Amino acid sequence: MKVIVINGNSRHGSTWNCMKLFIQELSKYKTVEITEFTLPKDMPHFCNGCFSCFYNGENTCPHSLYVNPIVTSLTEADLILITSPVYAMDVSGQLKALLDHLCFMWLSHRPNPKMFNKIGLSITTTAGAGLGHTTKTIKNSFKFWGVKKVFSFKNPVSAMKWSDVSLKKQEAIQKEMAKLARKIVKAAKSIDSLPKPIFRSLMFFLMKGMMKKNTWNPYDRKHWENQGWLSGSKPF
Ligand SMILES: Cc1cc2nc3c(=O)[nH]c(=O)nc-3n(C[C@H](O)[C@H](O)[C@H](O)COP(=O)(O)O)c2cc1C
Repeated sequence: MKVIVINGNSRHGSTWNCMKLFIQELSKYKTVEITEFTLPKDMPHFCNGCFSCFYNGENTCPHSLYVNPIVTSLTEADLILITSPVYAMDVSGQLKALLDHLCFMWLSHRPNPKMFNKIGLSITTTAGAGLGHTTKTIKNSFKFWGVKKVFSFKNPVSAMKWSDVSLKKQEAIQKEMAKLARKIVKAAKSIDSLPKPIFRSLMFFLMKGMMKKNTWNPYDRKHWENQGWLSGSKPF
């Protein structure tokens, strides 16, 4: 199974250790081929808001040197694993900066059909609060990229570092990861026959209508035309 791991922080703390426990459990079922990116090292820029990705293509992003390898790995993976600690009740700033750079491939712009049979997993940890909101931020990107099946792991570790997480809690996390790995392997086996996400079908239908009238962004429209989506082809 090909897995892309995007670490939303570079610290080998609770979030990273949870990710490692998951990979360890997943590896018991499958041979896992991992491509790992760590933020901010592997994408150290904020989005300039220049709109160039939307209007001229993602290769014209001033940060494409960093963004393109991540996009390639996203499209090649079976499982997309994105992690983040809770910072100020949301994802880390460095992860948000990456997600901003990937809006060009949202259903509302130029969705990549390779994303439509992927599995997404978010792993988030917090000292106390904010897991719901943080997970939702990651899930929004999964949803708008058109990812087919989404899982999340959230844990209030009640600690500032992994060594302060009680052994009992670490064991409970390992057990939860074992269950999650089992579920994900099962989902991967039947990915083609899993139900299509309703949000994705609805959004695709709405965007198709919008793209037919799109006079404001020929680059986006061309993408939809090239896929055949404006002349009856269906991606799912
Ligand atoms: C800058 C910063 C902001 C944080 N904001 C929150 C917060 O809003 N709510 C909370 O409960 N914990 C907050 N925390 C605590 C972390 O979410 C928590 O300790 C997490 O497990 C750290 O993950 P790590 O060990 O992978 O670095 C914050 C920590 C940092 C460094």
